[in-house]
Amino acid sequence: MKIRKAIFPVAGLGTRFLPATKAMPKEMLTVVDRPLIQHVVDEALEAGIEHLVFVTGRNKGVIEDHFDRPYELEDTLKGRAKLKEMELLLRDQPEAGSTSFTRQQQPLGLGHAVWCARDIVGDEPFAVLLPDVLVKHKPSGLKQMLDAAAAAGIGKANIVAVEEVPMESVHMYGVVGVGKPKGDLFELAGMVEKPKREQAPSNLSITGRYILQPEIFEILATQERGAGGEIQLTDAMLRMAEGQPFYGFKFKGKSYDCGSKSGFLAANIAYAMDRDDLRDGLREEMRQYL
Ligand code: UTP
Repeated sequence: MKIRKAIFPVAGLGTRFLPATKAMPKEMLTVVDRPLIQHVVDEALEAGIEHLVFVTGRNKGVIEDHFDRPYELEDTLKGRAKLKEMELLLRDQPEAGSTSFTRQQQPLGLGHAVWCARDIVGDEPFAVLLPDVLVKHKPSGLKQMLDAAAAAGIGKANIVAVEEVPMESVHMYGVVGVGKPKGDLFELAGMVEKPKREQAPSNLSITGRYILQPEIFEILATQERGAGGEIQLTDAMLRMAEGQPFYGFKFKGKSYDCGSKSGFLAANIAYAMDRDDLRDGLREEMRQYL
């Protein structure tokens, strides 16, 4: 299964981070010195994605600027012989023509955001990466998923990444049932959005990485609003699971829910502790609080 395109839904309001997100997109909050969106773009590129599709909204223009070539900055850095910084900018520069931006216009939910990318993606399978979930592992979450699918000989199918959550928190997530194993993946035995603890089929929640077949766009086109009055991707996946295989994949590594303040702070500590230039100072600083 060759996946060339990835959708990054970045049109949400980020209300959990107000007032930080009043004028700045949540996806531009930094984990150490890279914006959240850059971390997930890195993950997609590592997995071999060739075209990055951003579904943006109002006040999100800076995301487009972030992936553009900063000509004036390059010129100034060159003039000041700041070669290391120049290299850093060039390394992260997506190839010309490898990004697309479309607008969701109204934040009607994740399912609606994905549907907005239908014409850019066209008739081929694609990945969806939520920028508020960071997977800290080498190889990255999406690469692990694609490698596992290839090793299991999976052809046309849909795959969702899952991770364990405490049983008392299942009511906050989309939860999957576990069917027959297939290599490192497993067949999904149902999906439930925000189940009651006693009705949850497992404690495995869907975690921000998806591989989907293009037929999902037709389903999303007629999808009614679900939980929270939003067009939910999980509801559309449930309908698609009636006619197409769905697999779950539990990735290695720790994930951080950077859409929540505690997850975002934890990610900053974890990523900073990985850096030779920051580790010792940060450890010293934290010692004072522990
Ligand atoms: P979230 O629900 O975590 O993001 O959606 P949010 O709505 O921005 O955050 P809160 O809950 O108000 O704090 C996960 C991802 O889906 C995108 C968001 O931008 C985020 O990256 N999203 C969500 C859209 O693109 N459109 C939507 O209508 C909803």
